[in-house]
Amino acid sequence: MALLDILHFPDPRLRLKAVPVVSVDDSVRDIVSDMFETMYDALGIGLAATQVNIQQQIIVIDVSSEKDEPICLINPQIQTLEGSEEMQEGCLSVPGYFENVTRAERVVIEALDETGTKREIAADELLAVCIQHEMDHLEGKLFVDYLSPLKRQRLKKKLEKNPLSKSSSSNDSHSDAS
Ligand code: NI
Repeated sequence: MALLDILHFPDPRLRLKAVPVVSVDDSVRDIVSDMFETMYDALGIGLAATQVNIQQQIIVIDVSSEKDEPICLINPQIQTLEGSEEMQEGCLSVPGYFENVTRAERVVIEALDETGTKREIAADELLAVCIQHEMDHLEGKLFVDYLSPLKRQRLKKKLEKNPLSKSSSSNDSHSDAS
C-alpha cells in the first residue's frame, strides 16, 4: 500500500483519457488498494485513476459517513441517465473550490469490481453525482468545465493569486471532494 500523488488543476495530465483495463489482475488490485488509501487519506469521497496519473479506467468511491462502503468501478459504462439535479461539488484535484453542477439525478452503470466480476449499480443522490464526476475524470473532464464563463474567470483569478498546492488540500477536510 502506498499513498499516490494527486494531480492538481490545471495540470495537463488531468486531460488525458484513460483506457479500459484489459485484465483485472493483481497489478490492478494494487492500484485499487493504493487509490482507496489515497482517497481516504485525502478525506475524499471518490478518486479516479486519472487524478493519480494512471491512465486506466479505474475509480474508487466511498460516500458513506462511516467510510465503510468502498466501491471499486473498473471500465464503467453508463446504461441509463435519468432526471436532473444540481448539487455542490468539490474535487481533490481542485482543493478548496466548490461549485454547483447540474447532472443526472439517477444513473445505472455497469462496471467490473476488483475481482473482475461484472456488476450493475443503480445510484441516486450523492452516489449518482460522484459516479458521473469520476467517470468524467476518466475522459479528461473536470467539474470546473461546467462552470459559466464568469465563474471560470473567477476561478482563474483565484488560482493566479494562490496556485493549488499539496498543502492547501488539508484545509478542505470538511468537504465532499472527489
Ligand atoms: Ni474530482
